[in-house]
Amino acid sequence: MEYPARRLRRLRRTPVIRDLVAETTLDAGDLVAPLFVAEGIDAPRPIASLPGHGQHTRDSLRAEVDRLVSLGIRSVILFGLPAQKDATGTSAWDPEGIVQVALRDLRDDHGDGLCLMADLCLDEYTDHGHCGVLLDDGTVDNDATIDLYARIAVAQADAGADVVAPSGMMDGQVAAIRASLEAIGHHDTIILAYAAKYATALYGPFRDAVDVTIQSGDRRGYQQDLRNRREAAAEVLADVAEGADMVMVKPALSCLDIIADVAQLVDVPIAAYHVSGEYSMVKAAAERGWIDGTAVGIEHLTAIRRAGADLVLTYFAAEVAEALGG
Ligand code: PBG
Repeated sequence: MEYPARRLRRLRRTPVIRDLVAETTLDAGDLVAPLFVAEGIDAPRPIASLPGHGQHTRDSLRAEVDRLVSLGIRSVILFGLPAQKDATGTSAWDPEGIVQVALRDLRDDHGDGLCLMADLCLDEYTDHGHCGVLLDDGTVDNDATIDLYARIAVAQADAGADVVAPSGMMDGQVAAIRASLEAIGHHDTIILAYAAKYATALYGPFRDAVDVTIQSGDRRGYQQDLRNRREAAAEVLADVAEGADMVMVKPALSCLDIIADVAQLVDVPIAAYHVSGEYSMVKAAAERGWIDGTAVGIEHLTAIRRAGADLVLTYFAAEVAEALGG
């Protein structure tokens, strides 16, 4: 009888052997938990379209972060919901703004045991829901907006953010932020640039989470067109040249090719955002008993890591960390 020289199933025989030869790892230390903190609410509010997540009060945020840390999660990214929104989003850079006070709370609680990230954008703070200030024709004014981003970066760094993460997709935003941080001596603040961020319907549940309704138009004038692949390289190279320490691809599963491209292209760490819609689709199917949600979550995050992401922002952080054994 002839035996095949190479029998591929040999390396799949036991869990120990499979672990030994696995090319990709997934553990809690690679995950970043997105969290929402709201000003002026007395109790946390669940977010219907994002099961298991809510808008936090300052206190419930602290408790949630304690829980995450106990599960092995050591990085969080904060999104703020101000009590008042206005045309320019002023509370985004107010030292007493909701994200800034929450950053100080969490730094007090955890010191350097927690990597504190802050989403840096204006859409949660503007009454029109766009990621910047508007010109008379209703489009976003790039240069006026990046001046405001520079102010937000300073407020977040002053409040203790390890990482500021500009997500507005304005040209020159990383350079403006780096300059403002350097000017006041925040030499160690990390910039995680949402570098290749595509316009997608998958952000729907997130907009419920932050109470954002875009008053007119959409984000296609600043976020990338999903049909384009090489454009992502241009965005990433520009952000790295401007001083980004890490770059993000977003969303994740519909952009696995982009993640793989970017991992080849640059030597900075690559983040991917498994976004609200990607999470909620899994949870909705799981609630119906159609799939095992946690197992699919682990598969999604593993695939994102396999494509080349070093870290993953994900609403599955707690659930997956728990399943992986904390
Ligand atoms: C913008 C921002 C968005 C998300 C993160 N930062 C929304 C948008 O661009 O419309 C989406 C994240 C998600 O869907 O989970 N501040």
